[in-house]
Order: sequence, then structure tokens, then C-alpha cells
Amino acid sequence: MSSPAGHLPVLLESISELLGPPSGGTVLDLTAGRGGHAEALARAAGAGGRIMLCDLDAGNLAFAEARVRGVAGAEVRSMHGSFANADRAMLAAGWAADRVLADLGFASTQMDDPSRGFSFQNDGALDMRLDLSRGETAADLLARMSESALADAIFQLGEDPFARRIARTIVERRSRAPFRTTHELAIAVSAAYGPKARESRMHPATRTFMALRIMVNDELGALRSLLEAFRATASKFPSTTWLNPKARLGVISFHSLEDRLVKHAFVEWETAGLGQRVTRKPVEASDAELRANPRARSAKLRVFEFASEIGAVR
Ligand SMILES: C[S@@+](CC[C@H](N)C(=O)[O-])C[C@H]1O[C@@H](n2cnc3c(N)ncnc32)[C@H](O)[C@@H]1O
Repeated sequence: MSSPAGHLPVLLESISELLGPPSGGTVLDLTAGRGGHAEALARAAGAGGRIMLCDLDAGNLAFAEARVRGVAGAEVRSMHGSFANADRAMLAAGWAADRVLADLGFASTQMDDPSRGFSFQNDGALDMRLDLSRGETAADLLARMSESALADAIFQLGEDPFARRIARTIVERRSRAPFRTTHELAIAVSAAYGPKARESRMHPATRTFMALRIMVNDELGALRSLLEAFRATASKFPSTTWLNPKARLGVISFHSLEDRLVKHAFVEWETAGLGQRVTRKPVEASDAELRANPRARSAKLRVFEFASEIGAVR
């Protein structure tokens, strides 16, 4: 099933149920994307509600802002940049969040746009930056990383068992000409797989592309900074400034390394008396959702509710 916004929000029912704000409440959507989740949360907040949207992708952010402004009586503001800095936008607005959502990774519109370089399905420049206004592209990384660093990244972030062979092939190939396009990289990775490419369930380049995307956008570093910012703020309850006591944070992750970071942070916060896990096990997509949106396959939602003050859980 497609969506006029170009992206179907995953686990929408669970998000509405577990992260629906109180009437007139304040929502911080850290990954606004195409605004699907934000629209539902804004409707729940209603007139008098406040919605802060954040995204690295200026195009997505503008789309989400227009979408959310169009449907809800809520006040909408936005911040272009990494969610690791969203606290500054909340402080500048003088807002404190009741509900916070991070729906990690990329939107379908980004993956489907050949000029963004996220996919090997269509040929395009090897870019992969979520924020087109700054940072190194995938082509830059492929040109400068050592063979061993590439192998480690493709193994750890992409979990590709042929990581060493792929890194060797990349380094050998780039000594002749730099990688410029997604097809050039996909062909090199397929060559590294050799006859094994035919046995592979997915395209041989899938995992290498995922590893590069995670590196280009420092996705794990950004998530770590985000979780640290929440911990530091919640440790000051009840005298916090941008997060309300009893606020809820929901994180949807699509990669086991991300999910592990979230799971461990929530357990540690609970042990430290900062609040309680709302979800003990991650919420996953139903069969019906998977049929409509195969992208939801790896989505895992975890939700944490902060206490009103440290140690005062419920
Ligand atoms: C899965 S999409 C979000 C989709 C959105 N929930 C919706 O309903 O349309 C993820 C979005 O997060 C953005 N993003 C990824 N990492 C980010 C970060 N560190 N800071 C801000 N935005 C980020 C991407 O640019 C993308 O637009």
C-alpha cells in the first residue's frame, strides 16, 4: 500500500495508544519525516496542543510541518537539525514535552529518490546524507577509509559475513577510480560475493549500503547522545525545563544495535529510579500491517514513562 505522503508511518495504532498526548499537551517529534505520526499525535493534542517537529532532512521537515499545520488546531514549530539538539529548540520555545517520539532511520521518500543514493535499485550519486546541508557523503567515506575500518564497519553495522572480502574489493577497485554511483558500489560488492551472490536471499549490496548509511549519518552516535540528554534531564526532575514529569518517550528502531541501546538505557533508567518501562518487550507490527507495509518488518517500539521526581515512580 502506498501513501500520498510517500511514507507509511509504522506501528501507528500503538503510537496513538501508547504516546497519545493529553488534550492540550505538548509533543516533540524528533524524526518528523513525512508527518504521519505527528499528524495523529497533533489530532490527539487538539486545539491548545503544541507540536515541535525536528528532522535532519529539510525537505521532509517542510512537508511534515505543512501537513501538521493543515489538520490540527495545535501550534506547530520546527527545528532543522539533529535530534541530539532538540532540547535547545524546546528551551528556545519555552515548551516542555509530554510525549516524545523518535522513529529512527530513513523515510521511504529518501530511499526511493535515486539522487539521495540510499538504494542500489536505481543508479544515483553515492550521497546517503539525511542532512544535505553538511557532512561527508558515502563516496567521501569510501574514498578515505582504510580497508580494515571498512571491513569492521560492514561487519558490525551491516552484519555481513563477507565484510573482509567486500572491503578488499572496494579498496582494490578505488585504486583505479573513485566510487561515484550506487551501481558502481553494488557491482563491486556483488563481485566480492562471487558465485555466493546467487545463493544470497537479499541483494549482496544490502548490508554494505546499510552500514554506509549508518556511518554517514552517525546514526548510533546520535542515538547515544539523545539517550544521554534524556537521562541528564530526567535526573533533574522535578526541576526540568523542556521535559514534563511523567513525560513518555517512545523509540522505534529498525536495527538490532539501535534496539539494544534503547533497551539497555530504559532498564538502566528504571533501575536509577527515573521512571518505568511502559513496554517490557518491544511492540512489533501485526501481520496485517506487515502485509500493507513490509518496511515495518524490523520495527521495534519501546516506550518509557518518566517519574514525577527521581525515585517517585507512580
Ligand atoms: C522513519 S522516518 C520518520 C517518519 C515519520 N515518523 C512519519 O510518520 O512520516 C525517519 C526520519 O528521521 C530523520 N532522522 C534520522 N536521523 C535523525 C537525527 N539524528 N535527527 C533528526 N532527524 C533524523 C530522517 O531524515 C527521516 O526523515
